[in-house]
Parts: sequence; structure tokens; C-alpha cells
Amino acid sequence: MAAEVNSGLEGVVAAETTISLVDGQAGRLLYRGYEIGDLAAHGSYDRVVGLLLDGEWPARDEVLPAASLTPSVLSALRGLPTSVAPLDAMRTGISAYGAERRLDWPPNAEQARELIALGPAVVGAFARVRDGKQPVDSAEGAHLGVAGRLLHAISGEEPDEAQARALDAYFTVCAEHGLNASTFTTRVITSTQSDLASAVCGAVGALKGRLHGGAPSEVRDQLTQIGDVDHAEQWIRGALARGERLMGFGHRVYKTMDPRAAALRQVAERLAADADWLQLAIDVEDVALRLLAEHKPDRPLKTNVEYYASIVLDGVGLLTDLYTPAFAVARTAGWTAHSLEQAEHGRLIRPDSRYVGPEQRPLPTPA
Ligand code: ACO
Repeated sequence: MAAEVNSGLEGVVAAETTISLVDGQAGRLLYRGYEIGDLAAHGSYDRVVGLLLDGEWPARDEVLPAASLTPSVLSALRGLPTSVAPLDAMRTGISAYGAERRLDWPPNAEQARELIALGPAVVGAFARVRDGKQPVDSAEGAHLGVAGRLLHAISGEEPDEAQARALDAYFTVCAEHGLNASTFTTRVITSTQSDLASAVCGAVGALKGRLHGGAPSEVRDQLTQIGDVDHAEQWIRGALARGERLMGFGHRVYKTMDPRAAALRQVAERLAADADWLQLAIDVEDVALRLLAEHKPDRPLKTNVEYYASIVLDGVGLLTDLYTPAFAVARTAGWTAHSLEQAEHGRLIRPDSRYVGPEQRPLPTPA
């Protein structure tokens, strides 16, 4: 009998990993045994990078070496129309870097650190180039962590400490998340013995979609349209009746509140950038959860990471089209950690498909 088709691959176990535990039933996320709330409150992203890549909590709180943009990466970014999405520019910049660097197989932690450090430099440079400004010299932000460096590379100024801390916690929370679509993409690419830069480029492409990393700017649009909690019920009922999805809710794995959403709500509360905006988000969340439970009684649809991510990213002053690039910079840690693990233990990933097209038939004879 033919195998059953499982087009979303739910329940399919395609790898053993020691990198993170995503416990969808209990709403728990651990990086190598450490709980995400603890890491967000007491760790730092650069240290989390060490944990993910090397397996143990680094003894010292060091920042990653900064990456300088080579002339070919800069000319690739400058060659793009200023209207392109910054996430596409990030993919282009990493692609140019990978083409020039020709990273060897198998991938290693040093290559991974290079690519993680490249992210803020590329995104910041494009954000400035499209505004007609000169990119910032990466060495000027080298004392900062990766998250602070992103703010510095965009503004050219020393970031506000509270904002840099909030973005660092956001980066920590988004660094890794099991075999999600973009991470699976890196594992597929790495399984062919392609290089690490190609794996990251593929992952950026997978992250771009609104069902994955493209949601936080839509959460912002949603809250802007609702505007006032008194309109929330009517607005949400209308959206659900039209068959639309509420952005920032639902998850393939979590059947309860996404623990990252809880951690980011605390980050947003500590940052307190715009108290009214945060209060609107909290009030709208309550209404949304009630109406989603009514709408799909058999399917738990709870708050996901993107909901409060949107509030934090807004609070640190990022433009909405830089939300997903910020996510991509943070997630480069998880992508590359999985690539290293795949290269060490995995085999070529090559599932089957069931053919449901026409039976063999003759080509039509020419008229
Ligand atoms: N709002 C309204 N209905 C929803 C939502 C939502 N946010 N999420 C799922 N549903 C409904 C679907 O319409 C579907 O209904 P149906 O069975 O009548 O067709 C049912 O719940 C099951 O949905 P699936 O698409 O099968 O669930 P899946 O596990 O594939 O989707 C996903 C998970 C993509 C996150 C989904 O919940 C969604 O689209 N959410 C909104 C977008 C979003 O917030 N994305 C960010 C995700 S977090 C991240 O990737 C980092």
C-alpha cells in the first residue's frame, strides 16, 4: 500500500538534535537545557550564540567579532533599487559575501560566527544606502553586542542602552526554534554538502513568508486598524468572518501560549516605550483570544512570538520593513547551529512524492 501523504510534515521526525527543545504541549522552550525566560532575562544574545554553536554556556560574556563589509558586498547592496525589501537586500548581501568567501565544507563554528556578525552590518548598510547615506564602519560598533550593532549600523549612533537591551532580549528569544521551515531549509541545503552561506540565504527566503517571519509588521497594521479596544471585537469578528487570520496568533507546534510571547511581553513592559500602544496590544490580545476560542473551539489558537515582537521592535525604533530582517539576523544563530549538526550527523534529505498525474501517454502528433 502506498505511504500516506503528509504535505505539512507534521509529526515527521527528520533529525535528532541537542540544540533546543520545543515542547508544544507544555509551552516550553529550552536552548541546550536552559529555559528561554531565564536566558532572555539574565543572558545575552552573544553568549547564547556560543551556547548554540559550541554546546555549553560560555564562561565569559564576550561579544562576537564584528564583520566588515567587503567592496563586493557593498556594491551588491548599492546596485539594488532603493525600493527593494530589506530582507531581500540581506539575502543578496549574504549571497555576495558567500560567493566571494567560498566557505569550505564542512561548515564550522567560526564560519557561523562570521555569518551571524555579517547580518547587522548588511541590514544596517542597506537601510542607510537606500536613504542616500554612507554605511557605518563596522569597527565603530565592535564594542557592542550583535543586537546593539544592528541599531548602531542603522543610525550611525551609539544606541540607547534600554533599547539595545530590549533588542538583545528579542534576539535571544528568536535565536533558535527547532525544525521550523527556515531551519529545515538550512538542513536540507547543508545535507547536500552545499556551503553555510547558501544555507543561510535559503533560510532567509523561507523566513520571508507571512506564515513564518513576515507577521510582526502585519501585527502592527492590525493594531493600527483596530485603533481602540472598543473597536476590537467588531474588527476581529469581521476579519474572522471573512476567513482572514489574526496575525500573531496560532502556531504549528504550541498548543498553549508561545513561551517566547510571554518573555517578549515582559521585555515590552520593561522597555515601556509607548505605554498606550502596549496597553492596546494587551487589551486586544484578550479579545482576540476569546474570539479565536469561539471561532475554532477544537483548535487552540494562542498568542505567538510575533505579537509582542511587534511591540518590542516598534519600541526600539525599527521601521516595519526592518522587523523581519532583525528576526533573520537573530535566527542566523539557530540556522547555523543546525547546519553544523546536520553536517556532523545527518544524511542527504530526500523525501518522496506520490505521483498523481496522467498515466504514460503518447505525445500528440504534430498538426
Ligand atoms: N487566525 C484565525 N484562524 C487561524 C489562525 C489565526 N491566526 N491560525 C490558524 N487558524 C485556523 C485556520 O484558518 C485553520 O482553519 P480551517 O481548518 O477552518 O482551515 C485552522 O486554524 C488550522 O490552521 P492551519 O493553517 O492548519 O494551522 P498551521 O499549524 O498550519 O498554521 C500558523 C500555523 C501558520 C502560524 C497559523 O496559525 C497562522 O497563519 N497564524 C497567523 C500568522 C502568524 O502569526 N504567523 C507567525 C507564526 S510564528 C513564527 O513563525 C515565527
